[in-house]
Amino acid sequence: MTELANRTQPLRPSSDMTSSTFVTPEQQYLRIVGPAKLKGHLPVSGAKNSALVVLAGTILASGVCQIRNLPNLADINRMNRLLASLGLKLTECSEGIEIDATHVGTSEAPYDLVSRMRASFFVIGPLVARLGQARIPLPGGCAIGARPVDLHVRGLQAMGADVHIEHGVVDVKVNRNGGRLQGAKIYLDYPSVGATETIMMAATLADGETIIENAAQEPEVVDLANFCRAMGARITGAGTNTISVVGTQTLHGVDYSIIPDRIEAGTFLVAAAITQSELTVGPVIHGHVAPVIAKLEEIGLKVQKEDNQIYRLIPNGLRATDIETLPFPGFPTDMQAQFTALLALCEGSSVMTETVFENRLHHVAELNRMGADIVVKRNNAIIRGVPFLSGAPIVGSDLRASAAMILAALAAHGVSEVRGLQHLDRGYDDIEAKFRNIGADIQRLKDPSVEDSLSSITAES
Ligand code: UD1
Repeated sequence: MTELANRTQPLRPSSDMTSSTFVTPEQQYLRIVGPAKLKGHLPVSGAKNSALVVLAGTILASGVCQIRNLPNLADINRMNRLLASLGLKLTECSEGIEIDATHVGTSEAPYDLVSRMRASFFVIGPLVARLGQARIPLPGGCAIGARPVDLHVRGLQAMGADVHIEHGVVDVKVNRNGGRLQGAKIYLDYPSVGATETIMMAATLADGETIIENAAQEPEVVDLANFCRAMGARITGAGTNTISVVGTQTLHGVDYSIIPDRIEAGTFLVAAAITQSELTVGPVIHGHVAPVIAKLEEIGLKVQKEDNQIYRLIPNGLRATDIETLPFPGFPTDMQAQFTALLALCEGSSVMTETVFENRLHHVAELNRMGADIVVKRNNAIIRGVPFLSGAPIVGSDLRASAAMILAALAAHGVSEVRGLQHLDRGYDDIEAKFRNIGADIQRLKDPSVEDSLSSITAES
């Protein structure tokens, strides 16, 4: 096993780069020649959003956890480095990582790691539960919206924590009850995924019962609950809008495998639709992609369930449809950009309404540069289908927007150059190799217009 505490983030190698110098994702782009005709199987990695919160949840165990089916992503590397900075011992094991949280060295998370990844904030619940205190820098806004953490904070306060936010840091201390949180009834004003996860983790080691009302029902919340239960936590109701957690004194280590990534799976199903290619995609847990499948069927595609968690998508024309993003089991906001790209090529007019984040339609301008006909009015994208898109230089402004750019480029006529790969690499495990293996003409190249920069390598590692 390899010690991971000081491992730097691997810089994604490219067969197309001849230089021996390190190259950051900001210094790379994808050259994609379309329209692609794809054939074969797209394999789905472990779920990024589950993996991140489960890794944070290992802080709860007074022992050693093995976490498997981890995707190879920049965000996972960042979370590992954050855990190492808190004093946990990390070593590689088969298909994953072994984390020894017997001793947690500090309750203070470093700014440079938290500022780079919002999900770092997830350590707040486990740290307060385990140590009775935490100091975590505020994650700040991001490209898709302000993304406050007020619901996380109010949940911890309801459980007896004193919270002060000063100089950009959330300082949490439990000054009563011997430093132990107290179970409480908490109604969330919005079914926030992160706040549900923070409160659920905090409650596992609290005194008494916590009830979370209007809880998020996303599959990643259920995966976290299953992980906590495997460590000995008493949680019921995960996957419904009311979750009950009865606190226990300690939790133990466990061997746990992360669920498949429903958003990566959805992205791949859209790839089949947008390139009009018959593909299989899996593993997928069928219930997790139901809202995405329903919309693909409305658009006119034939989606067949096969054995062993595989979907086969059979192209059959593309018709316009309206979509509104909602908390699960509604249509996921993390699939909005990919479907906007698909609807750009559907016959007729569609409306895509984004209700979860306030600023998540930046990809529209890039799609229009490729010949799409989309108008944004407030949180609606009004999409008039066009017969084809043309290849162009395009930039992904956030993680899912980058995936949408790849999908559009695969369908477009001619050469596209997709930039913004620092976002893509946060959430897709070697996506270009997966597409290349099924026939796409896609290469990762060094961008001659961006200078080599040692400082950005240091910052990323
Ligand atoms: C998670 C996912 C993200 C997904 C999102 C919604 C991870 C790592 N990320 O993000 O990919 O897009 O769920 O499915 O799991 N809000 C508040 N106050 C809070 C918390 C949230 O107002 O304290 C608002 C947010 O600004 C947003 C909405 O609630 O408008 C939904 O956010 P939330 O469900 O918390 O998303 P995340 O957990 O950040």
